Amino acid sequence: MTELLEPRAIGQSLIRRDGARKVRGTATYAYETPVEDPVYAQIVQAAVARGRITGVDASRAERLDGALAVLTFQNAERLPPGTDPELAVLQSGEVAFRGQPVGLVVAETSETARQAAELVRITYDEQPHDAELRADRDDLYKPDGLNAALETDTVEGDVAAAMASAPVTLERTYTTAMYHNNPLEPHTTTAVWDPAADVPLTLWESTQGVYWARSAVAATFGLEEEQVRVICPFVGGGFGSKGLPHANAILAVMAARALPGRPTKLALTRQQMFFLTGYRTPTIQRMQLAADRDGRLLAIAIDVTEQTSRIKEFAEQTGAPTRMMYAAPDRRTTHRLAALDVPVPTWMRAPGECPGMFGPEVALDELAEELGIDPVELRIRNEPEVDPETGKPWSSRHLVECLREGARRFGWRDRDPRPGVRRDGDWLVGTGVASSVYPTRRLPESTATIRFEEGRYVAEIGAADLGTGAWTILPQIAADALGVPAGDVDVRIGDTQYPVASVAGGSTGTNTWGSAIVVAARAFRDKFGNSPADGSEVSGDAAQAAKDDAHASYAFGAQFAEARVHADTGEIRVPRLLGVFAAGRIINPRTARSQFIGGMTMGLSMALHETSVMDPRIGQVANHDLAEYHITANADVTSVEAHCLDEHDPFVNPMGSKGIGEIGIVGTSAAIANAIHHATGVRVRDLPVTLNRLLAALPRQSSPG
Ligand code: MOS
Repeated sequence: MTELLEPRAIGQSLIRRDGARKVRGTATYAYETPVEDPVYAQIVQAAVARGRITGVDASRAERLDGALAVLTFQNAERLPPGTDPELAVLQSGEVAFRGQPVGLVVAETSETARQAAELVRITYDEQPHDAELRADRDDLYKPDGLNAALETDTVEGDVAAAMASAPVTLERTYTTAMYHNNPLEPHTTTAVWDPAADVPLTLWESTQGVYWARSAVAATFGLEEEQVRVICPFVGGGFGSKGLPHANAILAVMAARALPGRPTKLALTRQQMFFLTGYRTPTIQRMQLAADRDGRLLAIAIDVTEQTSRIKEFAEQTGAPTRMMYAAPDRRTTHRLAALDVPVPTWMRAPGECPGMFGPEVALDELAEELGIDPVELRIRNEPEVDPETGKPWSSRHLVECLREGARRFGWRDRDPRPGVRRDGDWLVGTGVASSVYPTRRLPESTATIRFEEGRYVAEIGAADLGTGAWTILPQIAADALGVPAGDVDVRIGDTQYPVASVAGGSTGTNTWGSAIVVAARAFRDKFGNSPADGSEVSGDAAQAAKDDAHASYAFGAQFAEARVHADTGEIRVPRLLGVFAAGRIINPRTARSQFIGGMTMGLSMALHETSVMDPRIGQVANHDLAEYHITANADVTSVEAHCLDEHDPFVNPMGSKGIGEIGIVGTSAAIANAIHHATGVRVRDLPVTLNRLLAALPRQSSPG
């Protein structure tokens, strides 16, 4: 147990402190940082999916008026051996995926840089590439571990035996698509290299964590961390793709180092982001469920096939939620990877849980239908008393309450369970449900300083605000820990000149930075009392906050969706999404709601619209821009409601809060796919659910006329 803060500022819907600056356009993003005499860099991308460069002709580019430098593997600086292969740009003539950086042009203007990049001629010895993910490949391998340091496979009991003897079994394969993060603000850098300065490298980098960015950049260039400063007060989203720097940041630094005294700006284009900033791997999920006639699960298994790049492994933990979600004595989760000639996958909002709750939550819907049990009830019957994975008690788990409250608010009670029987004119109408989950984690290595300055309290920590609300909610936490109004507290974040902080990722930010702030604030009060002298200052580490390892900690939720499918055209509309979440104490209901409905909207996008279409013949995402990569827009969204239970969890941290940035996207796509099945009677097991996957199977009963 930890001593919970008395919530005063916590729980208030305070407006965003950075809101006015963003609305007025005075909040500067990385690329906009005013610097003296900047130059502009443009990346040249590989035109083959695998091969070796045989020749570079930069002469036309170099002759262009305003072109300053063309860097390729032939003349770029050497990076230390052992550099992360994604970041080891321009180090050899080998091409590992189409679109990989093979050159960098630096010029006086961005237009010139772009034109010059077009003029760089590169010839290749092209080799056969392989970019096709299939579950029947004979070269799938078992990674040593998964993202978030999880085990690759887990086995409890004997699923095969349960499948052979259980009264009811279900075996299905589900797939999720490849998705690109596509934050509104592209990945951008402004880099200043001044070899004579104490801190020779300054980066304004669009990042989810200035410290993690600093470590990666320093290591890549063989610099001491203290020789690098990273600044990032504002970020236009990241969704995981800015958790660590990508090749573009390294290239910006290379350009700045090649032209000392000339600050370099590098902004990726939207199209380049489809090659260089990560994506969510497509997944193939083979599910097995065994149950008794009352719907109690006897076995649950998920065998996942997914991809990584040949140069660098990223193993998505897709099976993770199956390990802990429901009570079943026999359980198995496995992960196998195909290493392909494709760009490097990475984190995308709720890696693991997001794709990993699609297969299981649709499979449960199929099981419910087969057993004639209401899908809400089926989930309630399988509620585990303790964490099935670890055997630990839950710090708090209110999934059943979320399901019941959601069902009540959504009007679930009157639901006719039969699929494909409700019509409203030309529209087939249905509803669906799915559960959500996301782990509550705290990262090590975060320190906050509290200082009293000219009558105000100032909290400093190198945290990041992706647009999520850290600028607003960290003062609320500090205020309650100090026992003062939130208006008396300022925070300073987004700069490595403030104390070390972990990344804004894995929904750990508030938990981690907030814990550090509470430790520092309590120590401040102990040391200086209620009338501190100007300049009084104390630091505190998140690691000093009470840590509970005796409980399993997760946030839970229940998502409900209504789907309408046009009987003739197969057009799909989702007029209603409703989520109820149990995510601990909510620090700020206004910014929290934005996270929940943002996640749910992104889940709607995942369910119906988004898909990166890999063309294996060329080893490239064919729809690599926002004209063809469809994202849910205003017209696709009608009603998205998020509600939170008043959950108290004394085990997670002094705020009693759980992470909320990711859980909103978890389960949404399953709820929508289940609603579409309820509307039409057609079960689509592959995301996104597009009308071509529905149309042929729709009942042929056009309305007259
Ligand atoms: Mo999030 S995908 O952990 O930034």
